[in-house]
Amino acid sequence: MAGMATLAAGALPRAALAATPNLAGTAGSRGLAFGSAFDREIFDDPAAAALLTAQCRIGAIENSLKFDWLRPAGPEADFTVADRLIEFGLKAGLRLRGTALIWNDWLPDWLKWTGVRERRAIMDRHIDEVLTHYAGRVASWDVVNEPFFPMHGREGGYRGGYWFDAMGPDYIATAFRRAAAADPAAELVLNEAFCEHDDETGLAIRPLLYDCVKRLKGDGVPIHAVGLQGHLKPLLPHDYGAFADWVAAVSELGVTVKITELDVDDRGLPADIAARDRIVAETLSAFLGPVLKVRSVNEVIAWQLSDRYSWYRTLPDYPPGQKARSHLFDDAMEPKPATFAVETAFGQSAAR
Ligand code: XIL
Repeated sequence: MAGMATLAAGALPRAALAATPNLAGTAGSRGLAFGSAFDREIFDDPAAAALLTAQCRIGAIENSLKFDWLRPAGPEADFTVADRLIEFGLKAGLRLRGTALIWNDWLPDWLKWTGVRERRAIMDRHIDEVLTHYAGRVASWDVVNEPFFPMHGREGGYRGGYWFDAMGPDYIATAFRRAAAADPAAELVLNEAFCEHDDETGLAIRPLLYDCVKRLKGDGVPIHAVGLQGHLKPLLPHDYGAFADWVAAVSELGVTVKITELDVDDRGLPADIAARDRIVAETLSAFLGPVLKVRSVNEVIAWQLSDRYSWYRTLPDYPPGQKARSHLFDDAMEPKPATFAVETAFGQSAAR
């Protein structure tokens, strides 16, 4: 054992690390639900399927329920693959989340050629069909994803795109009302990115999102929760204590809050694996500590469990040969410092 201590933690065999973590179990002991995004990899990778089942109580469909994945070529939806994922998730005992019904990003080209009134009808049809199809199976939906992006230059700081440009800000309330009518039992969530950071974008979006939730609540719009993505960027300015205070203020508007897409963007961090793993773990601890003191935060969802299926690996900006280590388990589905950091944060969080 003495010699092993000189190895990077990521290189240690599982037996040499602390007891196998049980993220959902430890979270559950504090009244907190833990889960992860997953998608088609679980069909071909039994290790990924087993890790998800062992560690999670919640499963979020990473891509296959998105508009462009259900309707890539035209208005007719193809639910075949999504249905298989839902079936897998339910068999694994997971509470399922759909991401995302309406998002101004990642839309198929064919939508571009639709007129304004037609687009409103397409949105209604999408919400009706998807929620009816999955009623009783998908418990929670990101009804609108990423409503704000001031850099798009739209009045009010809204994210521009086919939905916003056709309907203006009203598309948000319209989508929530439509979703509630289509599946009255579903949990309806407004999900947003970037709020965790004190850069220009994060600082601009926080008050916009707060005011938006306040307005929706005041207008009687059926919104049950706010999702904050939690793609943490250690190199951006941040103050997670101040962020947690803002989270508490949001929840006082009458919503629960969930961290919906937790991971650490490790672009620009040192190439050395041990150093990088340490920064990723420290970032997760620093974030979860204050955030989990807020009792209205009742769910934490990782955006994939293993580095093997990291969405960062599809993004540019990594030096040649360097691969993202942004997630809670390594490529071999083994625990690493991030795993223990998260489990410790769960164990130390306030009971709900
Ligand atoms: C990402 C997926 O992880 C990728 O596989 C896909 O190519 C693009 O979308 N914020 C979100 C998620 O709300 O839906 C995004 O997911 C990541 C950023």
